[in-house]
Amino acid sequence: MFDIIKKIFFKKGGLKPARDSLSILSDEAGFFVTNAKKYKILNPPFQGEDGFQGKIVKINGSSKVDLTRLDYLALGSNREIKNIMQSSIEKYDLSCPASQMVMKSQPNAELEKTIADFHGMKSTILFTSGYSANDNLMQALGQRLRTHYVYGYVKYILSPGSRMKGIGTAPTLFFVDDESHYSLNHGMRIAKYFSKGRCFVEKYPSTKYDILEENIQKSIKKYPLAVRIIVTDALSSISGKIFDIEKLNDISAKYGCILFVDEAHSTGVLGTNGRGVAYSAKNYQENKSRIVVMGTLTKAICQLGGYVTLENDDLATLLRVSSPQYIFSAPINPWLASVITKTIKLISGDFGEKKREYLSKISTQLRTKLKELGYDIMESDSQIVPVVIGDDNLAEKVKDYLEDNGFMTSLFKYPAVSQNKALIRFSLCADITEEEIGKVVELMKKVRDIFKIKI
Ligand SMILES: Cc1ncc(COP(=O)(O)O)c(C=O)c1O
Repeated sequence: MFDIIKKIFFKKGGLKPARDSLSILSDEAGFFVTNAKKYKILNPPFQGEDGFQGKIVKINGSSKVDLTRLDYLALGSNREIKNIMQSSIEKYDLSCPASQMVMKSQPNAELEKTIADFHGMKSTILFTSGYSANDNLMQALGQRLRTHYVYGYVKYILSPGSRMKGIGTAPTLFFVDDESHYSLNHGMRIAKYFSKGRCFVEKYPSTKYDILEENIQKSIKKYPLAVRIIVTDALSSISGKIFDIEKLNDISAKYGCILFVDEAHSTGVLGTNGRGVAYSAKNYQENKSRIVVMGTLTKAICQLGGYVTLENDDLATLLRVSSPQYIFSAPINPWLASVITKTIKLISGDFGEKKREYLSKISTQLRTKLKELGYDIMESDSQIVPVVIGDDNLAEKVKDYLEDNGFMTSLFKYPAVSQNKALIRFSLCADITEEEIGKVVELMKKVRDIFKIKI
C-alpha cells in the first residue's frame, strides 16, 4: 500500500528522492574543475619550496619579478623586522586571548594607541583583517543598536522617559562610491537585510561628487532624520587614482554626514609620513570628528590585521558593541600586535620616508613612460599602475607574454572591471629597480606592436 502511494506521489512530481548533499556539492565543484583552464581560477602560479623571497618568485624553477605584491614598502625580507618578530615571539605567549570584549592585552592596547596617534585620532578598533574591519563596520553602522546582540541590552536599560527613548530608530543611509571594495558592500548588504526599511544603500558613479550631493539632498527631503554615511576608498586598488577627500570632507560637513575612508592601499604609502590620504587633506583636523579611517596591516605594513580609527569616543563605543567580530572573535595575537606597533613606528620615520620617496619616483617613471607609449593608465597617480588592454583574451595574452619575459602581473577582467575594459595591473614596491622599470617599459613597447593594441 505504502509503495503504491509513494509511486503515485513521485509520479505527480511531489517529493523527489533525496539526492546526496555531497554529490550536489561535488557537481558544483566539478563545474570549476572541468572549466579550470577557461576560468584560470584554480591555477594561481605555484611557488616552489623556496617560495618567494622579496620581489623574486620562483615558478616552475624559473625566477620572475613579482609585480602583483602589495608589500609596497618592501618590508617582507627586512632583517630588522624579522629580528623584532623573533624577540616578540620569545617575550609573549603565542596564544590568542579571548574576545576583545573580554580581555585586552597590553600589546594590543599599545597598538590601538599607536594607530590612533599615526592618524591623529583618539580611538582604534582592531580586526584580524582589513576585510573584516570593513565588513563589520558597515554592519555596525547599518544596524547600529538594532543588532540582535545589542538590542536586548538596550531594551533592558530603556526606561519610560529615558533620554535614550527612540534609540536606533533613525535609518542609516549609505552613499557609496561605486568603485568601493567588496568587503564594504558585503557588510552593507547584511545590514540592509537585518535592518529592513531602516538601512539604505545608494551608489554614486565614482568621484562624481555632484551626483553624490544630489542624492544626499533628495534623501534629506525623504528622511530628514537619518544617519548619513559617505563611503569611499582613498586610493583605488584597480585604477590607482587618489580620491578627493578634501572635497568629501566639505560635503560631509555641509550635510552633517559621517565620512568613511578605506585607506587599505594608501596607509604607509601616501600622505605625510605615510599617514594616508585623509590625514593629509587640508581640512582633516577641523573635520576629524566626523571621519572614520579604515586601514589594513596586510599591505604596506606587511603583517596581518586591519583597523578603523576615529576621533569620536562615543561613536567608537557604539561601533565596538555593534561589530560582530569585535564581540565574537579572537583578536590579533599580542606578540604580533607588538611587532606591528614597532613596524608602524619604523615606517613613519626616516626609514619609511626614503622608501616612499623612491616608490613615488619609480611609479612616476612607469606612468610617464606608459603614457608616452600611448597606453590608457586610467587616472593612476600612485604605485598602482593599470594598463587598459580591452579584450579579455588579449589581456590574458599580454599577461602571459610579460610572465614569459620575467614579470608577474595581475589581470582584471569583467566583472571586476567593465566589459571590454580588461586590464593588467602593475603594483610597484620599493625594491623594484629603475632597470626593472626600464625592462617593463621595453616589454610594453613590444606588446603594443606585437599584439596591435588599440591605443
Ligand atoms: C580597497 C580594499 N579594502 C580592503 C581590502 C581588504 O584588506 P585585507 O586584504 O587586509 O583583508 C582590500 C584588499 O585588497 C582592498 O583592496
